[in-house]
Amino acid sequence: MSFPGTGKIWMNGTLVDWADAKIHVASHVVHYGSAVFEGARCYDTKQGPACFRLDAHMRRLIDSARIYRMESPYDQQTLTDAVLELIRVNKFQACYIRPIVYRGYDSLGVNPNPCPVDVAIMLWEWGAYFTKEAIEEGLDVKISTWARNAPNTTPAMAKSVANYANAQLIKMEAIADGYAEGIALDTQGNLSEGSGQNLFIVRENVIHTPPIGSSVLSGITRDSVVTIARDLGFEVREQTLPREMLYIADEVFFVGTAVEVTPIKSVDRIKVGRGRRGPVTEAIQQKFFQIVKGDTPGPHGWLQPVYSREAATTRA
Ligand SMILES: Cc1ncc(COP(=O)(O)O)c(C=O)c1O
Repeated sequence: MSFPGTGKIWMNGTLVDWADAKIHVASHVVHYGSAVFEGARCYDTKQGPACFRLDAHMRRLIDSARIYRMESPYDQQTLTDAVLELIRVNKFQACYIRPIVYRGYDSLGVNPNPCPVDVAIMLWEWGAYFTKEAIEEGLDVKISTWARNAPNTTPAMAKSVANYANAQLIKMEAIADGYAEGIALDTQGNLSEGSGQNLFIVRENVIHTPPIGSSVLSGITRDSVVTIARDLGFEVREQTLPREMLYIADEVFFVGTAVEVTPIKSVDRIKVGRGRRGPVTEAIQQKFFQIVKGDTPGPHGWLQPVYSREAATTRA
């Protein structure tokens, strides 16, 4: 995935050309990672382009800013409207949505308060995060030697740019060692999450996922998958999980906006179950893709159309 370098970017309420969407190198965010952000998706559905749980993503953006004492100059509704407008302006049928709230240009003391809080929203086309085959066949992953951040260091519930320094270490180590992805433990040694994905384990038809207290991002796909699994009749337990659960699991899978629902076929070169996607993962994957693509009416109102009914008629 590389950028197309075209289209408009929303910056502090103004639409600017991709090539002109610049900030100064002395901006606070460049030096101290003082930003929070989101990653959401717009899907090409039968009813036209529609965003998956955009309200939940924008709520988490505002929450993340609040944790870092950043007063966003734009409220949740304004930012939601801006995302929808930007998709229309750029004429996307499907895209990845990246809003970012960051400390801008004023001074470079560690104290961010003198710096303005700026906001940008960018969109680009982003298909499968891993490969198309991985969605069916699964990934080879390793337990990272890097732990997730301790709870009283940088907060896991805030989707802060700073957290992705840790995520990059996990990801780079996994790639250097010949794996697709790494799974981090928390500082107690219990399972946490991947570099940019939440983790699910299936054993004897019961689905397990580490709790929010295990230094995981409170993922919106995680929440959706818990709901889907329960709707399908599965028991889901959010509980502290030891590393060895992975080695005796029937199935393991990652979830997240970028990775959607992706099976894991081995951990530390130990085969998960039969070493391929299992039936529970497949059932959840199927339902997830049906919902995001609008093939089945989502019972939870998770799809937000980009065009209102009147706008869609005008467009046609
Ligand atoms: C560290 C981390 N965990 C989990 C997730 C999954 O969260 P979501 O489903 O809200 O995209 C992400 C993706 O943004 C992430 O970066």
